[in-house]
Amino acid sequence: MSLLEDTAHRADRFLRGLDDRPVVPEPAAVSRLAQFLERPLDDAPTPDAQILAWLDEFGSPAAAATQGGRYFGLVIGGATPATLAASWLATAWDQNAGLYMASPVAAEVEQAALRDLIDVLGLPSGCEGAFVTGATMASFTSLLAARHALLDRQGWDVEADGLFGAPRLRVIVSADIHPSLIKGLGMLGLGRGRIETLAVDAQGRIREEEIRRIDGPAVVCAQAGNVNTGASDPFEALVQQVRANDGWLHVDGAFGLWAAAAPTRRHLVAGVEGADSWATDAHKWLNVPYDSGLAFVRDGAALRAACSLDAAYIAHGTRREPSATTPEMSRRARGIEVWAALQSLGRQGIAELVDRCCLHATRFAEGLAGAGFEILNDVVLNQVLVAFGDADETDRVIDAVQRDGTCWCGPTIFQGRRAMRISVSSYATTDDDVQRSLAAILACAKGTA
Ligand SMILES: Cc1ncc(COP(=O)(O)O)c(C=O)c1O
Repeated sequence: MSLLEDTAHRADRFLRGLDDRPVVPEPAAVSRLAQFLERPLDDAPTPDAQILAWLDEFGSPAAAATQGGRYFGLVIGGATPATLAASWLATAWDQNAGLYMASPVAAEVEQAALRDLIDVLGLPSGCEGAFVTGATMASFTSLLAARHALLDRQGWDVEADGLFGAPRLRVIVSADIHPSLIKGLGMLGLGRGRIETLAVDAQGRIREEEIRRIDGPAVVCAQAGNVNTGASDPFEALVQQVRANDGWLHVDGAFGLWAAAAPTRRHLVAGVEGADSWATDAHKWLNVPYDSGLAFVRDGAALRAACSLDAAYIAHGTRREPSATTPEMSRRARGIEVWAALQSLGRQGIAELVDRCCLHATRFAEGLAGAGFEILNDVVLNQVLVAFGDADETDRVIDAVQRDGTCWCGPTIFQGRRAMRISVSSYATTDDDVQRSLAAILACAKGTA
């Protein structure tokens, strides 16, 4: 058997076994791995088959079952079979997707994927896009374009002259914005400490009456899909105000932007297409392998001004140059998996995936509320926040759920309340997974597990 055939068998066995193992690895499996990894590096090379056998023997049992249907922590999607297979083939190709001349196949496939994504998400045709590692980098990349455009309008060339002595850029964000945005703004030199915030309502949405505080040109960051509640900001009002003030509206839609792809949920992000840039993840709700984030920018020239590079040894042709839209130069061809996901699901399959996850979330909420526990959010999307009593009792239940291993849910604090967070983002989650998980959570909460 060839190495790759052996790998395929091992991977297949791992995936088939997911249903029958705890969602998080047994501590003993992690200890076994850690102990194995203490071995010093041999002077002699190790045969490839042995390396794979080691990884499978010690690594597979220590892997979290995020590829299964009962992992509800963070916001984690699986990888559909088509995307996993496409990823393997693309890795076999080992393309450098940064430059068209290095990989026409990667560049062409990514461009096709970009066109279809813009269509599926209902964004303005003609947007530029970037394939990056995740939503954190997608927001960072979008905001590179925002920084360029807003300073350019004031006659300042930020790429040439940097930020020393530049006109001050106002940055205004939702008070409940994801911390990755704050990190990105710091990395952009816009100053974590200089950010102004707009107050939010009980679901974590920017309050409409706060929007009038955007009274001049500013980079404004809002979100589609609050990481705790799944709620989205009021985009129509935001777009109107930011446009009237000659600013730039960026939307972090790491998972929530996918509501736009489902006719039943599109109203939740009404007006989002009027923004200037958008960040989302493909490794969350599109269920492609890590790492895969997407940035979309209405003003492609601003993005290219921020990210283009030239070198004597690089021939730029007439086709779209991938590295002109991303912070990186060399990178893997992550757009191949995105293209495969789009083909394999189709427009309808994406809508159904989003809808199915939302319905699962509703069933969790109904089951928990029916048993007398408090649901802290309006369950409009795929996120559920549940409190089992006071903070100590909620922590006790979270700990019990995690130890039980039927499913995995994490803790959070939302507006001062301790809660367990359930995020349903995987294509693999079935009705049975929800039933089993709900039963396990209720048994933990009632102390009968
Ligand atoms: C709303 C939101 N924004 C940004 C991120 C960061 O995404 P990533 O880890 O892909 O960079 C997340 C992750 O869960 C998120 O939920």
